[in-house]
This record gives sequence, C-alpha cells and structure tokens, in this order.
Amino acid sequence: MTTLATPAVKGSVGTAHTRVEGRDKVTGAARYAGEIPFADLAHGWLVLSTVARGRIRSVADADVLAMPGVLAVLHHGYAPRVSTDYTGILGGPPDPTAAVFQDDRVPHHGWPVALVVAETPEQAREAAEALVVTYAREPHDTELSGDRPDAYAVESGPGPAVAEKGDLEAELAASAIVVDAEYTTPEEHHNPMEPHAATARWDGGRLEVVDSNQGTGWVAAELAQMFSLDPSAVRVRSEHVGGGFGSKGLRAHQVAAVMAATVLQRPVRVVLTRRQMFSLAGHRSPTVQRVRLGADPDGRLRALEHRSVNRTSTVYEFVESAAGPARVMYDAAAHHTANRVVRLDAPSPTWMRAPGEAPGSFALESALDELAEKTGVDPIELRVRNEPERGPVSGLPFGGRNLIACFREGARRFGWAERDPRPGVRRDGRWLLGTGTAAASFPALALPSTAAVTAEADGTFTVRINAADIGTGARTALTLIAADALHTAPDRVRVRIGDSDFGQAWIAGGSGGTRSWGWAVTAAAEELRQRLAPGAGIPPEGITVRSDTTEAVGALAQKERHSFGAQFAEVAVDTATGEVRVRRMLGIFAAGRIVNPLTARNQFVGGMVWGISMALHEEAVRDRASGGHYGADLAGYHVATHADVPRVEADWIDDTDPDDPVGIKGIGEIGVVGAAAAVANAVWHATGVRHRSLPIRPDRVL
Ligand code: MOS
Repeated sequence: MTTLATPAVKGSVGTAHTRVEGRDKVTGAARYAGEIPFADLAHGWLVLSTVARGRIRSVADADVLAMPGVLAVLHHGYAPRVSTDYTGILGGPPDPTAAVFQDDRVPHHGWPVALVVAETPEQAREAAEALVVTYAREPHDTELSGDRPDAYAVESGPGPAVAEKGDLEAELAASAIVVDAEYTTPEEHHNPMEPHAATARWDGGRLEVVDSNQGTGWVAAELAQMFSLDPSAVRVRSEHVGGGFGSKGLRAHQVAAVMAATVLQRPVRVVLTRRQMFSLAGHRSPTVQRVRLGADPDGRLRALEHRSVNRTSTVYEFVESAAGPARVMYDAAAHHTANRVVRLDAPSPTWMRAPGEAPGSFALESALDELAEKTGVDPIELRVRNEPERGPVSGLPFGGRNLIACFREGARRFGWAERDPRPGVRRDGRWLLGTGTAAASFPALALPSTAAVTAEADGTFTVRINAADIGTGARTALTLIAADALHTAPDRVRVRIGDSDFGQAWIAGGSGGTRSWGWAVTAAAEELRQRLAPGAGIPPEGITVRSDTTEAVGALAQKERHSFGAQFAEVAVDTATGEVRVRRMLGIFAAGRIVNPLTARNQFVGGMVWGISMALHEEAVRDRASGGHYGADLAGYHVATHADVPRVEADWIDDTDPDDPVGIKGIGEIGVVGAAAAVANAVWHATGVRHRSLPIRPDRVL
C-alpha cells in the first residue's frame, strides 16, 4: 500500500501548455497508422474507376494474380458481402459510400472497383496499375446549378430541411430595402497532412484495425454492423492523427482492408494516396445559395430568406446545411430557410470543417454587408440592430450569446472606428485597400461519453477515454482538465486515448470533442478525488472510477447553444493583375472557457487561415467530359500557404458556459466561419465590386 499525498494544485485549465505528445511527434517517436509495423503484413492498393457512371463489364484479375508478390484481387465478383442496413452514429441511415465491391455499379469517377493485395506496397501498386477493368459507360452529369428542377429537400441531420415562418413575399414587398443575390461556393477538399491509412488483422477471433480516424468507436461500431460482428469482437485503435477535418470516419480503405484480411487471414494495410483522397475521403459539396433580405430604412430585417442547394452522390444524400446559420444569427417577421440536394454522378460529400456554417456564413454574411451598403448603416451597427432575443426558428433562449461583445472588442482592436465606409477610395501604390467584417457562430454540443480515471499506486493518475486528438491538442486539454478535477499537477496525469476498448465516447467532431470528453473526465476524476481521502492507501492495482455522462448531458435545458465570433480582414487588391492579398485578420471569439490558450489560438488561427484559403484559393475543378478532377493534388488544388498568410490574430472574451462543468463550449470549427465573408467584404470595400462566387480568383477580380 502506498499513501497518497495529493498536493492541492488547481488552476491548470486556462494556462498555456505545450502538447503532451509534442516531443514524440517532432522526434518521430509518435507513429501514425500507416507506419506501425506488423509481422506478415500484406499491402492493398485500390483501383479506382476511370468512368463517371456505368457498369463494370470485366476485371482481368487473372492477369495480375500472376504478377510478382500478388496475393489477391478483390472486386465485386470476389469480395465478402457487407450490410448497410443499420443506423449510423447520428441516428439516421449510414453513409454506404464505404461499402465497396458489392455490385457492378459505378456511381462516380474515382469509385473503388478493386483492391490488389501483394507482399509489398510496390508490388501491389504495380499490379493495381496493370489491372484492366472494362466498363459499360453511361452518360453522366456532375454540374450543379441554382435552378435545377431536380433539387429536393431531405430530412437528415440536426435541423429540418425547410423552416418557414411569416409571409415572405408580403414582408419583402413592405421592405424599403431589398438585397436579392445568389452566392456560390465550389467543391472543396479537406486534405489533412496525413493521408488515410488502415491496417486490419484478425487476432484470436477478434478484428483489430489500426487506423487514422476521428473516433475509433464510430469506426468500430460501423465495421461491426457492416460485417455482422459482435461489437465486442471489433477493436479499433487510432492514437495519433495527422488531421481529419471531418474526412476521417469510416471510408472505403478500412472496409477494403478488413475484407482482404478476412480473405487472406493475415494483416493487410491500405493507404490512400493524395490523389485517391480526392474521390475517397469525402469533400465539401459545392453550393448555390440564394439570399433575400428585406429591411426597413434603419436596417432592421423584415424578411430573411436563405435557400441552399448542394450536390450529393447517387449513393448517399449528404446535406450541406448552408442555410443553418441564418436560423441562429438573425430574426425577421418572415424567416424562410431551406437546404436542398441534387443527386449527381460525383463522389459523396461529407462533413468538412464547419459543414453548413462555412459556406452558409459566406452567403449570409456577404448579404448582410450588402444590406449595410444599401442602408448606409455600419456593418457592425447593422448586426447590433438585428440581435435576436431568442432562436429565430427554435424560439429557444440562447445559452449565452456574446456576439456583440466580440464585435465591440474586435472593432476596438482592429481600428474599425476610423473606417471610411465608401468603397474604392484607399490606395497604397498600385493596391486598393479595404476592410471587412463578418459574424461567426457554431453549435456548442455536449454528447454522452464515458471515461475511466485510475489513481495509481505511485501517486500518478491514468485517464482512459476514447477521445481522438486529430491535431487539435485534445489530449493536452484533457490532461489539464483531469489535473484540475484531481487537484494535482498535469505532469502527474497521463491521458490514454484512441482505443475503442476504452468504451463509448463522442468523436472528434461537431466541435464537441473536448467538451464531451472533458465532462466525462471531470465526472470520473472528481468522484475519484473524493474517494481518495488524504492518507488513504492505494492498492497495487490502483483505484479506478468510471463515469458516464449520458444522463448529465441529457438533462441539459433546451437552449440555443452556440459559440460566436467576429471576423475582421484587411485586403489589398491589385486591379492590374487581379491579385488579392490579405494584409491582416483579427478574430475575436466567445467560445466558452478556453482550456489551453496555446492550442486554442492554434485552432482559431488555423480556421481563419482556412477562411483565407476558402476566399481566395480553394476550388476543385471537375472536368465535364470525364467527371473527374483536373489536378487532384496539392499542386492543382491551391491552399493558402505561408506566403498567403500575413498577421492573423485570434483572441477571445470571457464566455464561460455555466451549464458545463468546466465551462467549455467548443472551438474546433468556428475559426473558419465568417472568415471568407470578411475577406470578400473587404474586397468589396477595396474595389466597390461584390464577389459572390468563391474563390475570388484573379480572373474574377479583373
Ligand atoms: Mo468536423 S467537420 O465535425 O470533423
């Protein structure tokens, strides 16, 4: 028996802390899914369709089976059958996009038609590239437009597809000022640094998958359902993840790896190439959005309409709920919002950082800026005048709404008061200068999770929770949270994550990871601390307390729970070349209590940089003829690089959530929300020209 002398330390939450696994990551000691060694490992290489729609006629597998090292060729004529008849993690039907090799149908260019498995990755790749697949081609269509008659509303996801109150046409007719504009955003891709990778093996009747994902419980549960296995017979691990942004759920490569490991009865690894990720990792659908605002001369809204249509695949109905932010941000007597989809012959879109909010805020916050211009009301004052008392669609009170405080603090620090509202009147040599602002919001979620905290005999503590750290610093945040709940120092706490055997926990998604996990960790740690009376002994196996927050989060009063923020941008536009340079950005956020200022700033700034990228660079271009991409790589798909990113500052105001045990709301996605609109509004202020289609490329500026 060891005696515990708990030093009464509290106050780790809120102090800057470098990542607990940072040293492992920078020294290469941290191993990622594609580089963990296994004995007898075989390697799979996916073969993707070269047509956008049709049927597979033949797969010449016999030819490549004779090639060196080749062990198997899986395809629709030779692969285990899987089920997609189950409920996905959000309670709806699952995305069956990952259920590969089940039939001869090709729903899009880049669809997996075969997996070649060989002794080495090189042999697998060579054989995969040699595999001849023939197709019966059918005409395809990948083009989204705002007036497609085949757009339809689908009830899926958190909100209704269509929400309408009041007489829209009557309120528009009664409005002194009307803004009526169409905005478009292109197909965008996540492109995490670490490509998707999974190794599957059978180990004593149990399926084990070493993976890179945003939730091992999510992937394990879906694999169990797909392969009709007992949930306890599947273990998924994912310790270090080099970025996810919504793309790292269950996808084709894990399913293909499990199929191959089952057929061959040996470990099989499948890694996606950067190019393959463009059709297999999901993406943000293009959107076409129409916003109509009707207002009195003082800028007060009478009518708000936001309709969005996005492209989905013929495999899955994915809704990019771009009309969602309007349901939270502004009220009006007539308030109409709708999200619709069109099924086309392109890959299934998926969640991509701030799904809905990122493209939706571009349209809505640009339209607000157009209303500010037309009414002559300052853009910040316009938002002050349109602050709703309650959720415009839900009617619920807000669980904290510090949007205007963010604008006031941001305006002070950005120097907004000195701004001349007239467009196109400031110059710096050949550059026209402008500033813009936009609002940001993102839901603050708390989802049921379980955690286990152990007091070890040596006086340290071990936390086990099935959290995912996708680069956010979540593990470090949980270390600080556990330390405070235990009244100890962070260096006495080790946090183990990324293992489905640790039990159910929410995914790294919906900006709800740290909050949901922090709640479970706090609950277990506080109970453990009470059990450890000073001087009490600890047996060699330690003392473990488990928590389950299902009841606690379920008892949260119904409120509109969101983080908010105010984005500011200054741009310079060269009207001779069409080049837009962002000179500085400032984001001020009200996003709950900030657990670790160091990694939180990192998250906000990362989101804002993504906003610059969205405003000026990112666009996946599809070739109408083939249905595939031009330049499906980081040379052809432009993202903001260091040279594009000037002074980007992020900060926050005090916004502790009284309904959360730690005070957290969530910061994962809000950094990108409104950021592209702030840049676009600044481009208008610089030039007097509205850009309603992203990205604002030089050829569009000219
Ligand atoms: Mo986020 S798009 O919920 O990973």
